[in-house]
Formats: sequence, C-alpha cells, structure tokens
Amino acid sequence: MGTEVAKNGPDLGSLPVENVQELASNCSKEIPHRYIRPEMILDKTSTDESSQVPVIDMENLATSHSECQNEMAKLHQACKEFGFFQLVNHGASMVIEKMKVVTEDFFKLPLEQKMACAQVPNHIEGYGQTFVVSEDQKLDWGDMLFLFPLPVSQRNMRFWPNSPTSFRSTLDEYSLQIHKVCMSLFKLIEANLGLEPGKLCSIYQDGIQGIRMNYYPPCRQADKVFGASPHSDGTGLTLLVQVNDVQGLQIKKSNTWVPIKPIPGAIIVNIGDMMEIMSNGEYRSIEHRAVVDFQKERLSIAAFHNANLTAKIGPLPELVKENGAQYKTIGLLEFFGLIPSSKLDGKSPLDRMRIDN
Ligand code: OGA
Ligand code: NI
Repeated sequence: MGTEVAKNGPDLGSLPVENVQELASNCSKEIPHRYIRPEMILDKTSTDESSQVPVIDMENLATSHSECQNEMAKLHQACKEFGFFQLVNHGASMVIEKMKVVTEDFFKLPLEQKMACAQVPNHIEGYGQTFVVSEDQKLDWGDMLFLFPLPVSQRNMRFWPNSPTSFRSTLDEYSLQIHKVCMSLFKLIEANLGLEPGKLCSIYQDGIQGIRMNYYPPCRQADKVFGASPHSDGTGLTLLVQVNDVQGLQIKKSNTWVPIKPIPGAIIVNIGDMMEIMSNGEYRSIEHRAVVDFQKERLSIAAFHNANLTAKIGPLPELVKENGAQYKTIGLLEFFGLIPSSKLDGKSPLDRMRIDN
C-alpha cells in the first residue's frame, strides 16, 4: 500500500501518536509529559508594537505609478529583514472565507469520520501529526490534515475528506487561487532580486503545493506546550491564513518571539528555506512557532509552495556575487529528506545546506 500513495516521493512519514483533539477533550488532569516543553520558560516574548511585520498591499503593486515602486521596495525590505509580511487586497478573500468554513467543519466531525482520511505509515499526507520520528520525541499540541493538491496529476483523493460535502470543491478552488497569488508574488520577487522575468516562476509554476490545515485544541497547560515547535518552513513561499480569531503565530526576531497580529482578511506570507537558499541568503527564512490558548481552539491553514520535482535547490548562479555560494546545491527530494532528520538532532535543513566560508 505504501508505494501506491507515495506519488510525490518525499518520505516524511510520522509514527502514530494520540489524537490531540481527543486527548484535550478527555484530559481533566495534568497533560502527558511528552507535550511539556520546559524550554518555553526561558523564552522571551515581545510586546513591542513596532516589531510587527510589514503590510504589503497587492493593489498598489498592480499600478504602474510611484506607489508601485514604493510598494516593491517595501516588499523587498520585508523579504530581507523580516522574512514575513501580511498581504492585503490579494483578491482571494471569497475563497478564503469558504475554505475557513469547511476546515472548521472538518475538525468538528467525530473522530471516526476524520480517521477516514488518516495518514498511512511512512507518509505525511492525510489526517494526523507531522514529523514524529522517534518514540521519545516531544510532541506538539495539535492535529493536522495535510494534503498535496498540486500538481493536479499527483493528487491523492483518498485523503481528501468527503465531508463536509463541499470540502473537495472548495479545496480545489482554494488551492488554485492561492497558487495564483503565490505566482504573482514570485513574479514580483524575481524582479526585486534582479532576475530575468520568468526565472523563479518557471521553477515554482508546476511545483508541489502542500496545504496543511492545523487544529490546535485549547490546553489547560497552554503555557507549557507548543502547537507547532519552532521551525522554519522548508518551502519557497508559505501563504498562511488564521481561520478563527485566536492568535498564536510567533516569529523570532533578535532572539525574541514576536506574536503576529493577523489583519482580518490578510494572508500571512513567509519566505521558506528554499527561497533563502535560492536567493543565496539575501532573503531570510525565519524561525517561527505556534502557541496555544488556555480556553479556545485555534485553526490555521498553511499553503506551502515548493519548486518542481526536477529543480535543483541551491543558490541561483545570478545571485552568487563576490561572497560566493553560501549554500550547497542538491535535488528537491534530497532536500525534503533533510526535514525529518532535523527532529532527531536539532540541526535544521538550512544549517545542513549552509557552506561555512
Ligand atoms: C506551519 C506553521 C503556524 C500557525 O504550519 O508551518 O508555522 O500559525 N503554522 O499555525
Ligand atoms: Ni511554519
């Protein structure tokens, strides 16, 4: 059965662990030890409003006037300094709202129904948890439904929920529209990096899109658990929306965790490892994490946009200047293979790719 579902190749499977939503609803006492993260106590969280990430207005980018130039400069700066920004006026609001509804409805289903889409051994796709690679690994306080809607030819419909009834058609539409927004961003980014038109778009146009719907239940020890442990995304660009009105995403800036305050309707965009590497370090893939709430559940939808299967992950030759290549160049599947190993020894894929000059 394994190979039948492994169409996309990367073997990022997870060991089976308890369903966190069930655990949260049955847990009246202390939560299991595997979820407790003592390191949280040492972490500083910022309350400084000025560290909020830049807001980029897509409408300004569509004009041919000076607003456009200013907005392009702002986008370039956001990618270099923050690695994160909020995107407004992106034109995908309608489908985002529909996607939020079906996502909430899916996680409300009884466990048996959600388990119809459960992950199978050795593969990441489906309903379950991410990257549990050892029996003693600490666990995140969250469940997810992870699907790979693009390329269309590679879809594994057996993991796509049938219920709610409009889930599949909504995800189909969401996937295509978010991909479109993402490609517009690549077009702007390639111009900002001084690349020839079409350079990045050709690498990402037929790439693998992963959509991860995250469900973080409330936790009576919310100050001691992570919804999502600190990580950087392995992708080119991630486009994330927060589904309900509960904050939780935090990004690391100057050794402090900065909570992101989502603007209603905005898409939160971040540069992933692949893009940091391709830009030879000019753009930054920033470490981030999700914390959970004491009383309220939290949901988010992350869309990861990766290079196509034949792409090489390495600095683009045009962007290697006097400083030389800062990262190695390897194939896409080999690069994906670095992600689970980071859970074993704490060395991130970016660390492994970096060349110590
Ligand atoms: C992710 C992620 C943050 C969030 O899915 O990679 O960083 O706010 N999620 O859920
Ligand atoms: Ni992430």
